[in-house]
Amino acid sequence: MSETLQTANARDLERLHRMLRQVAGDDLGTLRRHLAARDEARVLDIACGECHEAEVLTDFAAELTGDPDGAVQLTGLDVRAREIANARKRFGRRRGPDNQRGKREFEFLSGDATKLKEHVGSDEDFDLVFLRHQNYWNGDSTWEKIFDQALERLGSDGRLIITSYFDKEHRLALEALQRLGGELLRTESNPETRALLTPGKSVDRHVAIFRRKDA
Ligand SMILES: C[S@@+](CC[C@H](N)C(=O)[O-])C[C@H]1O[C@@H](n2cnc3c(N)ncnc32)[C@H](O)[C@@H]1O
Repeated sequence: MSETLQTANARDLERLHRMLRQVAGDDLGTLRRHLAARDEARVLDIACGECHEAEVLTDFAAELTGDPDGAVQLTGLDVRAREIANARKRFGRRRGPDNQRGKREFEFLSGDATKLKEHVGSDEDFDLVFLRHQNYWNGDSTWEKIFDQALERLGSDGRLIITSYFDKEHRLALEALQRLGGELLRTESNPETRALLTPGKSVDRHVAIFRRKDA
């Protein structure tokens, strides 16, 4: 990766972190209390690609535990085996304290998220489920299956967070998630989003947070 792209990605991730804090706002009191009483926070990143976002997501989850060095376990899943191999190379399967970032455990799985139960134990609930740059336009029925399973994996205080590259794709994803049983808590446009070459496409252009309506 060129240095310029590396720098751009690093800045995107700083902005994503700010957006996560903003969109979560004051909503997460219950989840914070729940996490403060637990040994570790559990995060599922669906369609994670190479999972550039892994450290931002685990830092954000650690903040919610009330301790920036709090323990966090992240499971990333993507259908593209090469991206997952790269994520494993970058983050390994770390256990124990890291000098800078507290106790983190990363696990990356290659598989189809429309069959999430086959890859991630069906009795496992997650505190946070992320879909960064969901791809609803690339196959609405596939992504509705993914959204449905993502909502299913949320614990009772858990939250689902999505980000989108495009305005219309974001709107369609919000509608689909609400049809499937998600309650939209907040959606925010990213004022610092980085424009990409395709007109109307930019990095983490919108960020939205949901809980399960039946929770
Ligand atoms: C736009 S990329 C986002 C990747 C990463 N989250 C990011 O923001 O850089 C969408 C990802 O969805 C993954 N994907 C598409 N269909 C999938 C499926 N059925 N199961 C798991 N991952 C899928 C693709 O392989 C791709 O990595």
